Amino acid sequence: MKTMKKKDQLEPTVFIIFGGAGDLTWRKLVPALFDLSKDRSMPADFAVIVVDRVMLSDEKLRGRLHDGVKKFSRQRKVKTSQWAEFAGHFRYQQGDFKKLETYKGLGEQCAKLEKEWGTKAHRIFYMATPPSMFAEIPKYLGQAGLASDREWARIVVEKPIGYDLKSARSLNAILAASFQESQIFRIDHYLGKETVQNILAFRFANPLFEPIWNRRYVDYVTITVAEEVGIGHRGGYYDQAGALRDMVQNHLMQLLCLVAMEPMVSFKADEIRNKKVDVLHAVRPIRREAVQKCAVRGQYGRGTLLDKKMRGYRQEDDISPHSKTETFAALNLFVDNWRWEGVPFYLRTGKRLPRRVSEVVIQFRAVPHESFPPESKQDWHPARLVLSIQPEEGIVMGFQAKYPGPKMLLRPVEMRFAYQDSFSVPSPYAYETLLWDIMKNDATLFMRADQIEAAWQILMPVLDVWAKSKPRNFPNYTAGSWGPLAAEELLAREGHTWGTIE
Ligand code: BG6
Repeated sequence: MKTMKKKDQLEPTVFIIFGGAGDLTWRKLVPALFDLSKDRSMPADFAVIVVDRVMLSDEKLRGRLHDGVKKFSRQRKVKTSQWAEFAGHFRYQQGDFKKLETYKGLGEQCAKLEKEWGTKAHRIFYMATPPSMFAEIPKYLGQAGLASDREWARIVVEKPIGYDLKSARSLNAILAASFQESQIFRIDHYLGKETVQNILAFRFANPLFEPIWNRRYVDYVTITVAEEVGIGHRGGYYDQAGALRDMVQNHLMQLLCLVAMEPMVSFKADEIRNKKVDVLHAVRPIRREAVQKCAVRGQYGRGTLLDKKMRGYRQEDDISPHSKTETFAALNLFVDNWRWEGVPFYLRTGKRLPRRVSEVVIQFRAVPHESFPPESKQDWHPARLVLSIQPEEGIVMGFQAKYPGPKMLLRPVEMRFAYQDSFSVPSPYAYETLLWDIMKNDATLFMRADQIEAAWQILMPVLDVWAKSKPRNFPNYTAGSWGPLAAEELLAREGHTWGTIE
């Protein structure tokens, strides 16, 4: 996404946000729309209809949204005049999501706006509601005739998309009953991150790396998404989900796809999505008997993080003192195709880890013949490439160099590309990019039904085995540590390490 030029001018658009009084709207959606409007990247004619069950005046709604924009927008400076102009595009409609008349009312409001603007408008129905509503809203939109325009009506779904393969299939079927796949935008906000999109640019816009991006040169790959944060106020949701559902099924699987996919032939949404889904289909199915060996789960106990004492997961709000939910998950997967046969992919994610870091490490093989004398390579470390997604945004290449002096001594060194040094423009937040793409009707960064289901399919044996054999050793890592020891052992038995940058 970039600031729009005149030719990119978007067509008139109405956003209809279900669950508009909720956290997502306040924290992410409206701040992102504000940033877009500040960058002149909104259509000249746009309106946002915020729908929720609670009674709220337009004024009260705008007050709350203003607060969210001040706290969470990228361009936090909000001039009164700017806010007044922006807020003028918002209106509130109280309505029950399970009553057809709510939807009829919305249809009338859209028609009124179109009349005012003297033109047809895109209608984007955004479900920013609890997941229980995902199965209801599309049905009513269908019944009210609001889904039938294949070009101008779109629906946006947030994760979690299903709780397992079965529920994901059933949700996809409900969506498909009213909308065509091309109208459905399933959000994984990781895909909106600049550095995640840059994986494609790095791999396929530079001929240098592609020839070595395979089993011949790559020893193994690690994907880490570590968080310092705990579960905040989301205990109710998180305790039902756990790390595998909350992070691995979506964000980590997306990263895996981007790292492992074949080059795309064009930049068409379905071409890229096909290539990604091919990766998921090639992931070697995990045998139930092997779950113990290739998957690790953990839950944090009390500990110290950034010099602060932290509660254990079981002491968090809304969490049972006996909870068995995992807050850490690690997996060893294989992608069975010509490119990757035999190369281990290790994925890990966890809450209350020592620092926030999302990184992909491509660990290259050692040189085939070691001609240097043993004393020259005490510090030897085979070359590696780190795709750093956050918080440092960039790419680091680690390789060997001669240490200065009369002797031939080798030391690992690094070459770094940092976004902030190379580009003087600020990166948009993920939601800005995603909302802009939805308005443009570009589905490249969104998940297709088959991709969601393929990701669930990979994880089902682990979810099943974990559900059946409850962990007896939770909590098994202290807040502020890198997770359970078993996650290190998962790699160590092959002589591998996670290799994130220290
Ligand atoms: C969300 C998860 O999808 O991603 C959260 O539900 C997690 O549990 C968050 O904290 C992480 O996103 P980011 O952008 O901060 O890495």
